[in-house]
Amino acid sequence: NQRLDVAVIGTGNWGTTLALVLARGGCNVTLFGRNQAEVGQLQAAGENSRFLPGQRFPANLGLAYDLALAAQAQVILLAVPSKTIRSNALQLAPQLAPDSIILSCAKGIESGSLETMSEVLAEALAPHPRSLIGALSGPNIANEIAQGLPATSVVALSDDQAGQRAQSLLTTNLMRIYRSSDVVGVELGGALKNIVALGAGICDGMGLGDNAKAAFITRGLAEMTRLGMARGAHPLTFAGLAGLGDLIATCASPHSRNRRLGEALARGQSLETALAQLGQVAEGVNTTATARQLAEQYGVELPIADELYRVLFEGKSPQQAGLDLMQRDPKNE
Ligand code: 13P
Repeated sequence: NQRLDVAVIGTGNWGTTLALVLARGGCNVTLFGRNQAEVGQLQAAGENSRFLPGQRFPANLGLAYDLALAAQAQVILLAVPSKTIRSNALQLAPQLAPDSIILSCAKGIESGSLETMSEVLAEALAPHPRSLIGALSGPNIANEIAQGLPATSVVALSDDQAGQRAQSLLTTNLMRIYRSSDVVGVELGGALKNIVALGAGICDGMGLGDNAKAAFITRGLAEMTRLGMARGAHPLTFAGLAGLGDLIATCASPHSRNRRLGEALARGQSLETALAQLGQVAEGVNTTATARQLAEQYGVELPIADELYRVLFEGKSPQQAGLDLMQRDPKNE
């Protein structure tokens, strides 16, 4: 039984896309579904008809559900929602190869613990070396990548040798992989940008124009950086691909779930209805709540996240939230 180069766990939009792009690039990769029934269905269809209809699986893309096989891979990509990543990791833990690299592809902050995904993984996979646990994050709108458009992403691992190993296994001619040792910065860039994307969608839905949206995105980036630095991240990480890069892609993309959700809210839909219509996880909803708690813990001000929280969870109108943001005491930039 040959060892897999890459195991992708999670058959959602992003997991399927990662498996597709790696397989097309010639990588020895297998996509792991939840159970035999799901994998059988994917195999029979020859594609993920729910999320990526028409994107046929290449012949070299393996499909499986036995996590014992995934646990032996050189690199394990966990592309599951942040809410389930801990339980997925716990299933993986007993069979994990000692030198496997595990990367979170989820962009969120865990409720309750307020930990980043790699911190959650480090706990769930203990005593696996922390230096082999990190994240993959960047401007990665799945639909574009699945369609064969070029993209970049960042592998964040504290250990540079592990980073190089992951980088060389994940690089393809259409997916350029950068490295960072600022794991918490890369993770918070990916997680916090979803809050800003929700708000950017609200700007779009309200027709506020490009000046307002640019201001919103830029002040959003300032909030992301402030909270990130309080958590020990390097400020320049937020100016990189996993920060500003992802922010630009997500706040502009017609595909972004978070941006689309914000647009629906601005058009007067309730959160429940908008989420039901989306039919997928928009991580920014939960991250708005967890980021606020984190900010409170560290004494950091997040006016945009605060207003968004009121819109999402306290029934405040997006119009009023916008007015209140405009009326705040202007600070030095
Ligand atoms: P959405 O979750 O909003 O679709 O954004 C995906 C993403 O993180 C792009 O990098």
